[in-house]
Amino acid sequence: MNSIWLTCVVIDVTRIKIERRPLNNGSAKMTTLSTLKFPVLIAHRGYKARYPENTLAAFEAALDSGAEMIELDITLSQDRSMVVIHDDTLNRTSNGKGAVRDYSITELKKFDAGNWFDDRFSDEKIPTLVEVLKQVNRRAVVNIEIKSSAFEDPAPADAIENQVIALIQKMNLLDCVLISSFEKRFLERIAAIEPTLALGVISWEPADAATVKMLKKLGVYSWHAWHKILTAEQVEFLHAANLKVFSFTVNEPDIFQRLSEMSIDGVFTDDGPALTTHS
Ligand code: G3P
Ligand code: CA
Repeated sequence: MNSIWLTCVVIDVTRIKIERRPLNNGSAKMTTLSTLKFPVLIAHRGYKARYPENTLAAFEAALDSGAEMIELDITLSQDRSMVVIHDDTLNRTSNGKGAVRDYSITELKKFDAGNWFDDRFSDEKIPTLVEVLKQVNRRAVVNIEIKSSAFEDPAPADAIENQVIALIQKMNLLDCVLISSFEKRFLERIAAIEPTLALGVISWEPADAATVKMLKKLGVYSWHAWHKILTAEQVEFLHAANLKVFSFTVNEPDIFQRLSEMSIDGVFTDDGPALTTHS
């Protein structure tokens, strides 16, 4: 049988190098939403504390550290490719300047997305969503956050949510992807087209009864809450509606401890190993 190969990033403490690894090497761990062990530590934008966020290096490092779930942010390039970057502009996380949406994918690929963090990562590029999904290759659940600024009304045929659905279906990843957004209208549209895709709503505010009713109607999987507003009563309320509760962004062990005592289902963290190795 022919081997299938993908490009992946191997990290050591001094340099980054690219090598080829077999896609189906038999020993690869596979993680799906149904195999997650809770509470799950979700690698926020990859291993963000030690690697440049939302890069292949950060995602590979998160996987190497044992993450069962990684989180990333997507928006559209000028020529409507799905690119993985948190901010609407290039300024903070690359050597580019200006709005992401003003550049084609070819132009975006010319920017350095790692040197701003450390010059050891100067080979890093802004990845596309498909590149990340190929690299992760089912080794972890991928939480794809669609940035609110990418919302379009009315939705064109190649709206970001339509592209995400088509890609996940094509790659056969429905069981190991969670789509989230602060913009609920993305989730309403996705639920109408592909109801088997797991959806998460992100919020700075607590969920009230009307919100939970809407979540149930949409068949939402998880509620992503800012840890500062989360209470045991709120977690209980959401669990009673059969919703998972994940909290962002948790980097302090004492906060993780407080949330664990509330039976939280997971936390987004920039440094999972630090949360679990603290004594
Ligand atoms: O999805 C949780 C968290 O990632 C949302 O905030 O700004 O880090 O994308 P942000
Ligand atoms: Ca995010």
